[in-house]
Amino acid sequence: MSVLVCGGAGYIGSHVVSELKELKYDIVVIDNLEYGHRESINVDHFYEGDIGDKNLLDKVFSNHKIDTVFHLCAYIEVGESVSNPSKYYNNNLSKPLTLLDSMVKHNVPNFVFSSTAAVYGEPEGVPLKEDMRKCPTSPYGDSKLALEKILAWYSKAYSFNYVALRYFNASGAHPNGHIGESHDPESHLIPLVLSVALGKRDNIKIFGDDYPTPDGTCLRDYVHVCDLALAHIKAMEYLKNGGESISCNLGNGAGFSVKEIIDLSREITGHSIPSLIEKKRDGDSSELIADSTLANNILGWTPKITSLKYIIETAWNWHKNHPNGFNKNL
Ligand code: UFG
Repeated sequence: MSVLVCGGAGYIGSHVVSELKELKYDIVVIDNLEYGHRESINVDHFYEGDIGDKNLLDKVFSNHKIDTVFHLCAYIEVGESVSNPSKYYNNNLSKPLTLLDSMVKHNVPNFVFSSTAAVYGEPEGVPLKEDMRKCPTSPYGDSKLALEKILAWYSKAYSFNYVALRYFNASGAHPNGHIGESHDPESHLIPLVLSVALGKRDNIKIFGDDYPTPDGTCLRDYVHVCDLALAHIKAMEYLKNGGESISCNLGNGAGFSVKEIIDLSREITGHSIPSLIEKKRDGDSSELIADSTLANNILGWTPKITSLKYIIETAWNWHKNHPNGFNKNL
């Protein structure tokens, strides 16, 4: 049996592929390379294309005996989704429906979905448990929540089970130094902060300093990308052992502010990293911190990397050695 990783050439996808390779799985990847990087993965079966392409999916499911699909292809920018919802609903909701229908048609039973902490919106309390209020503050979060709801109905109707993994803030890079975060354009805090240390930007803009948090800046739960990759393996094993469909949080359970990330990055890089206070970014929640007890109890997952300093150090190692990410031509 083979596994299919949709979006396998992306930041999290490439780390999932790396973990699957270590475990000697037969891996098939589909990626349209709009944001992914072919160089980030070394697989025998690569299809450049889109999960919205029914004919491509028919071909892939006919050519390979696949029992698990990992779906990691989505647009991911909260702010952009507020200004361009159409882009997000079309890509993050419409196209995965084609993928799901194709899985049903070809009797593929297991689905591991990249969901997000953004499904909660402004939290009713922290740490967040899976059954707390979900009221997304951006089309990005809303598109992911809508797909989770669709998955629940598909799983009732068809021979199909899923695990929706609600990632909190994916961060860091593989400790082997070969793969890491390479978005173009970049919108995430840690890579942007580190690009100031590399001299590629003059300063880091802090989006709002009057949130109801201890230092006024947003709190996030940063979880290492390799820990997220491991959770995908655990989710697959759980489904293969007959586990029922579930959604679960993946985080470290600790919140760090934007200012704390900048301070720690100053310490790690030895650079002064100038910062500026800017207005709030649309769609941001003040704090997102996970309670990952369910993932621990049901999947047997617990993050191995709990030190924020180490997370940022792995990111710094990657960015220092790949200042243009995978984009050699920049
Ligand atoms: N931030 C800044 N300045 C920047 C960039 C970000 O102050 O230049 C702040 C944001 O306002 C936010 C925090 O840093 O408070 C983290 O922002 P990121 O853009 O790095 O990450 P987000 O929390 O917006 O979103 C990320 C993923 C989503 C996921 C979410 C879950 O992109 O896919 O984490 O918490 F849903």
